[in-house]
Amino acid sequence: MFYNEINKVERGLFFQTGAAWSRLRKVMNKVMLADHGSINSFAPDIVNINSDVLRSWKEKCQVVDDRKWIIDDVKMELCKWSIESTGYMLFGDRMGCIPSETTPESDSRAQMLVENVANMFTETSRLQVIPVKLAHRLNLGVWKRFEQASSTMIQLANEYVEENMMKQRNLVKQNSIMRKLLGFGSLSEGEVSRSMVDLIIAAADTTSNSLQWMLYMIAKRQDVQLKILEEVIPLFNNPGDLEKIHEKAPYLRAFLREVSRLYPTAPFLARTLSKDIVLGGYLIPAGKPIVLSLFTTSRMSKYFEDPLAFKPERWLRNINKCPVGRDSAFASLPFGFGARSCIGRRAAELQMSLFIASFVREFDSSLAYDVDIKLNMILTPSRPIKLNLKAR
Ligand code: HEM
Repeated sequence: MFYNEINKVERGLFFQTGAAWSRLRKVMNKVMLADHGSINSFAPDIVNINSDVLRSWKEKCQVVDDRKWIIDDVKMELCKWSIESTGYMLFGDRMGCIPSETTPESDSRAQMLVENVANMFTETSRLQVIPVKLAHRLNLGVWKRFEQASSTMIQLANEYVEENMMKQRNLVKQNSIMRKLLGFGSLSEGEVSRSMVDLIIAAADTTSNSLQWMLYMIAKRQDVQLKILEEVIPLFNNPGDLEKIHEKAPYLRAFLREVSRLYPTAPFLARTLSKDIVLGGYLIPAGKPIVLSLFTTSRMSKYFEDPLAFKPERWLRNINKCPVGRDSAFASLPFGFGARSCIGRRAAELQMSLFIASFVREFDSSLAYDVDIKLNMILTPSRPIKLNLKAR
């Protein structure tokens, strides 16, 4: 917010409030949340991106022998994957973060975007321990690095958006979120452009961080890995099934929920009320920021039996008619809740499910070492997640 203010940068949904937010959100809800079919239709292209990513891992990771590899830090690789997959959904075209058949070398501009997005999130976490305005006034290194990364990242994302806007103007008809938003006719090109920039940035760190926890649990639990494999293998015989992966792979879906319960990328939700309320006997005054710790509620025995145990089955309806109960479902809200909940939820769930399906099909994985959690603005591993991969 402060960066946008002093640099006079106009931003999209995440940074807006009031009528401007509401107008934008209404249209974006239709395209990104209500229209399941339109998000799911990206499945075949996302699976192609996954194949390119997994091939690139085999080519560049440490080789143990011709069927085994070690990947030292899965996060950076997933950040590239996340920008590539989200970029594809937004523009209907490849961004160049991942080498593909048409572009065998990854594009240096895309690499720069990936690095600056990662740097911006790292410096944002560091800025949590000092008031931002003070860091700016004292011109501290952390502020300078944050500002540099943010400016470069926004400039590069803007270039991608502008190029894709040109294609739209020239009537290049790609299936894309950008095209659908413009098609409604109620948003200006400027509003759509700003939203696109913010969606790329909002998606990059959140989806890659969530997915790295998922790969961690897959590598840690062979039993879970095999169950997912068994469930997803038949889906690859019929591409239509991959578009419906949420319905067709209930165990995988339960796995996503369970990883997100124990390792929520966004461990806190924040709200400011417009009027006073009394909640659970406490007066919550209007205008005061309230922070809800999802990390705490999702690990409470009041809401989840044996709360620290990793049990995807607890989310399966067929085992227990009401999987975890209403209160418990509200105790774990990885994408938030209500009018300001995550607009990218469906995109992220589809991308992560498909990546896991492609990953377990390609590799048998195990952990090189265990990791702990680090509770920052987002919940990250205490050290890089290092995976041993073996071709299936
Ligand atoms: C696993 C990945 C993701 C997680 C865990 C996540 C989590 C969240 C959370 C917790 C919120 C705040 C919700 C609230 O306060 O109730 C949020 C908001 C938001 N997310 Fe995500 N997100 C993810 C992926 C994405 C993706 C892929 C996009 C874009 C394509 C995206 C775009 C946004 C935007 C724009 C907002 C602000 C919405 C508004 O203020 O109206 N997120 N996300």
